Amino acid sequence: MSEITLSRDPAHVRHGSSIGQPLTRRDGVLKVTGEARYAADNHPPKMLFAVMAVSQIARGRVASLDVAAAKRHPGVVEVMTPQNRPQLAEDPDAKTNPFMFRMELLQNDSVRYANQAIAVVIAETLEAATEGAALLSPRYEAERARSTLDATEAYVPPAVGIGHPAVVAHGDAADALAHAAHTIEATYETPPQYHNPMEPHAIVASWNGDALSIDTPTQGLAMAQGRIAGLFGISPEKIHIRSPFLGGGFGCKGLISGPQILGILAAKLVGRPVKLVLRRDQMYGPVGHRSATRQRLRMGATADGKLTAIDHHAKITTSTFDDFYEPAADASHSLYASEVIATSHEAVRLDIGTPLFMRAPGEATGSIALESAIDEIAEASGIDPLAFRLKNYAEVEPMTGKPFSSKALRECYAKGAEKFGWSKRPLQPRQMRDENGSLVGWGMGTATFPALMFAGQARAVIRSNGSGVMETGAHDMGQGAWTALAQIAADSLALDLKHIEFKAGTSDLPDAGIAGGSAHTATVGVAIHNAGAAVIAKLAELAMGDQRSPLFGAGNAGVVARDGRLFRRDDEARSESFGAILARAGLAEIEARGDGAMDPAAQTNYAMRAHGAVFAEVKVDPDLGQVRVTRMVGAFAAGRIVNPHLVRSQYLGGMIWGVSFALHEKAIVDHRSGRIMNANLAEYHVPVNADVPSMEALLIDEHDPHVNPLGIKGVGEIGITGSAGAVANAVWHATGIRVRRFPVAIEELVR
Ligand code: MOS
Repeated sequence: MSEITLSRDPAHVRHGSSIGQPLTRRDGVLKVTGEARYAADNHPPKMLFAVMAVSQIARGRVASLDVAAAKRHPGVVEVMTPQNRPQLAEDPDAKTNPFMFRMELLQNDSVRYANQAIAVVIAETLEAATEGAALLSPRYEAERARSTLDATEAYVPPAVGIGHPAVVAHGDAADALAHAAHTIEATYETPPQYHNPMEPHAIVASWNGDALSIDTPTQGLAMAQGRIAGLFGISPEKIHIRSPFLGGGFGCKGLISGPQILGILAAKLVGRPVKLVLRRDQMYGPVGHRSATRQRLRMGATADGKLTAIDHHAKITTSTFDDFYEPAADASHSLYASEVIATSHEAVRLDIGTPLFMRAPGEATGSIALESAIDEIAEASGIDPLAFRLKNYAEVEPMTGKPFSSKALRECYAKGAEKFGWSKRPLQPRQMRDENGSLVGWGMGTATFPALMFAGQARAVIRSNGSGVMETGAHDMGQGAWTALAQIAADSLALDLKHIEFKAGTSDLPDAGIAGGSAHTATVGVAIHNAGAAVIAKLAELAMGDQRSPLFGAGNAGVVARDGRLFRRDDEARSESFGAILARAGLAEIEARGDGAMDPAAQTNYAMRAHGAVFAEVKVDPDLGQVRVTRMVGAFAAGRIVNPHLVRSQYLGGMIWGVSFALHEKAIVDHRSGRIMNANLAEYHVPVNADVPSMEALLIDEHDPHVNPLGIKGVGEIGITGSAGAVANAVWHATGIRVRRFPVAIEELVR
């Protein structure tokens, strides 16, 4: 098959009628009318309900369970405990690769954190299973739980995030700080945060012999399939997973979790389909969370406000039994230029579930500290925070010296500031009041997120009736992947969106990798783009090699695909429809596959990131200390925008996470027991409509010729970076008080 060279110039990206359109979600009507079938909506015949009993202690062992009492309850079919749990082919505590996280699958009686599963009750009804779980009346041998950042001895982790060094130093921070004209040193604390997607983890599992059929939400179908295959000792092809819709993922559905596997085990134990859905409080432990952090920032600047040193140290937490390390200090690697940049991490092991990926892991926690500190050093230098950032943002990636593949940060600063009205901001804090006497403050933060790509595949088909099919095991967490990827598919096949069938969300489709790291659209988009190009190249080959075709002898370079036809580039009067080409060749359809992956040469030569700037206004009641965000403007540049409607919505969502980080979210731990006291949506605060201000997200044009053939950077997580810091800095500007413990509490502002 001959190659079509993919142009990197947006003017030449094929067809271009669908990409860029502000379409609403194609699955939107299904969702708002309740027709969309989420995992827990499935009820196969003879299905039973499983309910987890979870530990009320954070450390120790389960001494006894009253299994007999549970089994006596009407409707209870079985109680799964470590005694009768079906055998697994693989130890759930094995870790043969860094992406394999340890799970609690009733392998023994030990308790490693509160809310860990200690038994599963399976019954004819949800009510019976719930009551059965309550009747287990566990007795424990409890040990003292360790739950604070100072509870155990700190150590330097082997790596942070996905394999980054825990300690990095460019230059001598102590020396640079000693010689700086202006310095700051500040310590910021962020709390543990827990996942609260609207849809909790849920699974409906049915065994048929050694074949397994599953409905469950996942951000990584193929990885989930592989993990389940390993645990049960069956081949991945025997496992069919349907995950058409997710009611939110945010990282907690990236890797299959212990409770989902327990649902499969329960189905195996009873020989009937089983549904297991986590209760909201059961989300606070086994499905990952965001580590608490304590971050010390030291910065130095010259007399005229040029940064000379950034020293960012983060203390983070992990579980007693596994290793995930929130790469918080790495946020200082890529944004601001300084001759000296030093970052380091240390960790403590606590009696908690293993922290994992959550809404911009590392980037979000690091950003709120970094952006707060930048504001503090700007203040120490007597310079406006925007002017300071304009003076100090990096022109090349500081730690590698690589140029950015593209960077439109200056424009984000300019357009965001203009829209917000930043030029009217008084330099000093506590200068503005509204008509009710509330203190008014304006703050800002810089946003950035890496433009990642993982590996994904797609399969394209063109049928003799002129329609097309694009298949990929991609995932839609709710952000609109069904729509954005279908738009790319339509363009890649040179067909109108209404003439293609877009298939995604099941494990029998080509492996689309993981919907995470804000990399899904870029990764799968490129796979789709390549699959479409490949199938059109095959069609072109058929036509050009056939004397009966008007395209005979055109040569690949001379053919262009548009609106379901191939045209000779030099003579557009000579063309032929896809259907006619296939019909003459006697083919019902033609297919090809495509891969999406990063380009290693481009990766070697360029640093790839999306950028943005966020501006926030807060009002603070001077007597009560109550903080309200009243206005936010974000300006973001993230390469080609596949669908401006959906992208704007992603940015706004990220900015809301930022408000949440700065003002709302916090898991409150009872340090006597190690239990989380607010494991519910009433007391674990997240912003609701009344908390979310007037918000605007500006889409800044950016053409990135290197990041990938489509020029796409991710937009899923960048919105939280910069935003949390912008709110914190606005609180300072309103009150003159630097709050360094998040979320900002009223008691810090009433003095
Ligand atoms: Mo995300 S935390 O990359 O799902």
